[in-house]
Amino acid sequence: MNTAKTIAEIRRLVADARSGGVVCVGLVPTMGALHKGHYSLIDAACGECDFVAVSIFVNPTQFGPNEDYRRYPRPIDDDVAGCVSHGVDAVFAPRAEEMYPDGFATTVSVAGPTGPMEGRCRPGHFDGVCTVVAKLFNIVAPDVACFGAKDYQQVTVIKRMAADLDMPLRIKVCPTVREADGLAMSSRNVCLGDEERAQAAALYESLRLSERLIREGLSRAEEVIETARRHLAEKAPLGKADYIEIVDPDSLETVDTIEKDVVIALAVKFPSARLIDNIRVDMTEQRE
Ligand code: PAF
Repeated sequence: MNTAKTIAEIRRLVADARSGGVVCVGLVPTMGALHKGHYSLIDAACGECDFVAVSIFVNPTQFGPNEDYRRYPRPIDDDVAGCVSHGVDAVFAPRAEEMYPDGFATTVSVAGPTGPMEGRCRPGHFDGVCTVVAKLFNIVAPDVACFGAKDYQQVTVIKRMAADLDMPLRIKVCPTVREADGLAMSSRNVCLGDEERAQAAALYESLRLSERLIREGLSRAEEVIETARRHLAEKAPLGKADYIEIVDPDSLETVDTIEKDVVIALAVKFPSARLIDNIRVDMTEQRE
């Protein structure tokens, strides 16, 4: 496996692969600190592409001034070893100066689905995500790019951007991978203290509780959210809910009365890490 630090190097690796007969290039964009969730994306990419690149770049422009950019875990040697063992063909691990050289002045800004939830709580976050992902798409020129459903809003926004800007690739969304107690795998989980980690299981519990209420026939979103909020307050007192929202799966607009498929999404701020999670409730499934 090759590790590229510059844009020229990764482009050369992809170009060589294509001229050697590769027809499907896959990209898994990451910020490193790879875990089973990332490896499931890598495995999915390897399953359908004949050349897979993983980008590892803690993107400064998607972090707010009081967020955890400096503290974000960066175990690059472990990440590279993990990529080797999962059959990745190339890692692209640029420095910030390579991605954002002096004079850099462009922002890719998507409206619509960036508005609620993370967009409201983390102003500028999606500008940073879209700008770096657009750059990665331009640099690697993949046929397929894999993202996790855990970041539901992110993947919705990236799909919007790719469609609006006629980017010639397919976005593949892979299911959220969870710990035994339901906590969604996240690079930030390692930052949690023992008590925070134990309480973090309440995120998924409250999503499942909400899903159950909806399937039992509760259709007023406000009541569902209130129950989830109470569950979180009781089971995760160290955390503070930034939001719990019930939204349309495509537009991400808030739903008041639940009549068709919805996504329930939440963000909880613990002292050591802010966690997000979501669940899609498919209303075509039979109500319990
Ligand atoms: O989901 C992430 O890890 C990041 O937001 C991404 C897509 C790699 C862009 O920096």
